[in-house]
Order: sequence, then structure tokens, then C-alpha cells
Amino acid sequence: MNTSQNVSEGAGNNVNKPLIIALDFPGLQEVKGFLNEFDGEKLFVKVGMELFYKEGPQILTYLKEQQHQIFLDLKLHDIPNTVKNGMKSLASYEVDMVNVHALGGKAMMEAALEGLEAGTPSGQQRPACIAVTQLTSTSEERMQQEQLIGHKLQEVVLHYAALTKKSGLDGVVCSTLEVPMIRQKVGDKFLTVTPGIRLANQGVDDQVRVATPETARMNGTSAIVVGRAITGAKQPLQAYKQVKQEWEGVQV
Ligand code: C5P
Repeated sequence: MNTSQNVSEGAGNNVNKPLIIALDFPGLQEVKGFLNEFDGEKLFVKVGMELFYKEGPQILTYLKEQQHQIFLDLKLHDIPNTVKNGMKSLASYEVDMVNVHALGGKAMMEAALEGLEAGTPSGQQRPACIAVTQLTSTSEERMQQEQLIGHKLQEVVLHYAALTKKSGLDGVVCSTLEVPMIRQKVGDKFLTVTPGIRLANQGVDDQVRVATPETARMNGTSAIVVGRAITGAKQPLQAYKQVKQEWEGVQV
């Protein structure tokens, strides 16, 4: 990983604060069309299930050739042995970040790390591994009714964050709104990667626990994940610049 947008170390300081663009596109052609506008800028991008299931590992090869950093967002959640071996396979792609669902439990998260370490080519750094707490599209009401969890959403997120830390992972995916309490509980070195980012004048789509890039900065988020606020904009490059400016708090 290069040091300009390094999220695997130094979380919580203001030096390395990636803006991760969610490449939620149906295929390589659309990705190429989108990235074309960025004129060779080295980005931190997220490849999720839509793109990875369609294109397979070749999409990662392409993005690495373009020198972009990659968060491979496949949110593994299965029995420990399956996740361990799945992560071992994913480690061979040498991406920068991968993730699991914290709901899978401590044994599963520990197994994920074991697999990642086993699969990382010798001499290379293993990808950062983070855990989803509660999806940013989940409301407290829905969590309580559908998952039958009788706690406050913030308590659940905090509990999963502490469990994730105990399991040895590098951080969590959560809402920007939950970052201050997570920092307080598990410390500054723990990564908080936050989707559900919208500019003030944009709709929320299917997300619930949303925040602006500025709020993310003020709350001490380690990295923001931004999809439709940029990819769905009429002028994606303009939107990217605006998000980046708010996120970094400087003129670009
Ligand atoms: O378009 P939007 O910015 O809402 O996209 C958010 C991205 O972050 C999507 O790719 C989604 O899968 C991902 N994500 C999320 N909430 C999580 C984890 C990942 O929205 N808790």
C-alpha cells in the first residue's frame, strides 16, 4: 500500500484519510467509463459483490494495474472454517482491505485473520480486515423487529466494535454517527470506515444512518465510503471534488 491513503496503520490521526469510491457498477466497461474522467488520478476504490461476481478477479487485476488501492467488500459471514479458507483465497489477490460481518462472532473473525495471514504471499503485508457492525441501511426499529435484538442500535454497534477489536481485527464498518462513541470505547488506533455518506442536498436512497463528509471529518472517521453521491451524480468528477473538499476540509 502506498502511504498517501494508508488505512492499515495510523488510524485516528489526520494524515491518512482515504475517500473510498464504491464502484457499484455492473461491469468493467462501466468502471472504465467512470474512471476515465479521473485522468489517471490514483484512487482508493471499493469493489463490492455486484462487480466482483460479474467480472471476477480480473477486475482487481485491472484496478491494480491502474495503481488504485482496493477495498474488496464481500462481507464474509459463514462458519469459521469456511471463512478462514475463503479469506486465504482472497489474500492471494493482494488487495488493501477486506471485510466480514461481526455478527459471525469472535471465532469466525479470528478465523478470517488466520486465513488472511496464511494466504498473504511472504514478504507482503496482509490486507486490513474490518467487520461490519450493523449495515448503514438498518434502522433501530428494523433491527429490533427483524433481528429480534432488544437493545439500542448504538449499544449493538458498540458491542460489535469491542468484539471485533477483541478478535484482533483492524476496525469496523459503521455509520459516521457512531464513530465518536466507538473511539471512546476502543481507542484511536481502531479503523472506522463509514458508508452512508451524502452531500447535504442529496437524497438518502436505501441508506438510513447517513452523514455528510464534513460530519465524518468532525467525528474523526478513518475513511469514508462514497458510492451514489459520486457515481450517481450528473458530473461525477465535480461531485468527487466536492466530497473530497468537505472530507479533507481543504480547498482542492
Ligand atoms: O451509494 P452508497 O454511497 O449508499 O453506497 C454505499 C456502499 O457501501 C455500497 O457499496 C454498500 O454495499 C456499502 N456498505 C454500506 N453499509 C455497510 C457496509 C457497506 O452501505 N455497512
